[in-house]
Amino acid sequence: MPKSNSIIAIGAGNVASHFIPALHAIGFNIIQVYSRTLSNAQTLARKVKAKAIDDLEAIDHDAEWYLIMVKDDAIKSVLNQLPELNQKQFLAHTSGATPTTLLGKKAENFGSFYALQTFKKGHPANLKQTPFFVYGNNEKTQRLFRITARKISKKVTECSDIDRLKYHISAVFINNFVNHLACVANDYLIQNALDPSMLDPIRKKTFNNILNNDPCQIQTGPAVRNDEKLEKKHLALLKMHPELKKVYKALSSSIKAKYEDS
Ligand SMILES: NC(=O)c1ccc[n+]([C@@H]2O[C@H](COP(=O)([O-])OP(=O)(O)OC[C@H]3O[C@@H](n4cnc5c(N)ncnc54)[C@H](OP(=O)(O)O)[C@@H]3O)[C@@H](O)[C@H]2O)c1
Repeated sequence: MPKSNSIIAIGAGNVASHFIPALHAIGFNIIQVYSRTLSNAQTLARKVKAKAIDDLEAIDHDAEWYLIMVKDDAIKSVLNQLPELNQKQFLAHTSGATPTTLLGKKAENFGSFYALQTFKKGHPANLKQTPFFVYGNNEKTQRLFRITARKISKKVTECSDIDRLKYHISAVFINNFVNHLACVANDYLIQNALDPSMLDPIRKKTFNNILNNDPCQIQTGPAVRNDEKLEKKHLALLKMHPELKKVYKALSSSIKAKYEDS
């Protein structure tokens, strides 16, 4: 019989550092925190009165819930080292992109506990306002994940693997790609001995515009105006930055395709 309301945290990274204290705060007993780096497991374990482990052989077999929060490409190998779970135990991962069916080889009750937000260890997160997408392969699993997520967040949706993957792709566009563009814009100015803080007002305006409008309606710039002369001038200046040139061309081409008939 598993210990009721108990969780084993598998992973002690960005997501675990926010999810595990939140699960502890709503009454779960965090039995163990696993990380391949003991000091990472210890740091998180201390906050939730759990035991830190760095070897999956030492994992407690009697927890109710095993929550995998490791890098996507480590999920399979971690899974292979987990014990077979019984019909009273639950297994979930927090990945946007990994199919939950993978978890079926170790558990009868499995699913996903995914949040559509960017998390960094040590940076604050507002879980109450974060959309959670949960999935369970049967009613009792779906119920456990849904009820738990609702205690953490006001925005909980049940979501299939394929729809979660689609949300994940859109998050890559709005977060990862936009953030990368902000990063290369800074780098470009620094490399040219110019001041990136000059971008502060346009950075603020850009994000306000996105939040307060339909972004498809407010596109500006040479690509949407189809100003090829100006594009050539920019590309000539980017001659020494081949990666930036590729990004410039790819995004310009995407903007043109979107607006060509308007
Ligand atoms: N971060 C986000 O914004 C975010 C948002 C939603 C969903 N997710 C998903 O949540 C999961 C965890 O993401 P994360 O950002 O928390 O990851 P992370 O901080 O990069 O790493 C999480 C954990 O994975 C462990 N790990 C890495 N490689 C490993 C390996 N080969 N074997 C065993 N453990 C390994 C790390 O170990 P160490 O402690 O030793 O470094 C760490 O404890 C991923 O599936 C990710 O896609 C992330």
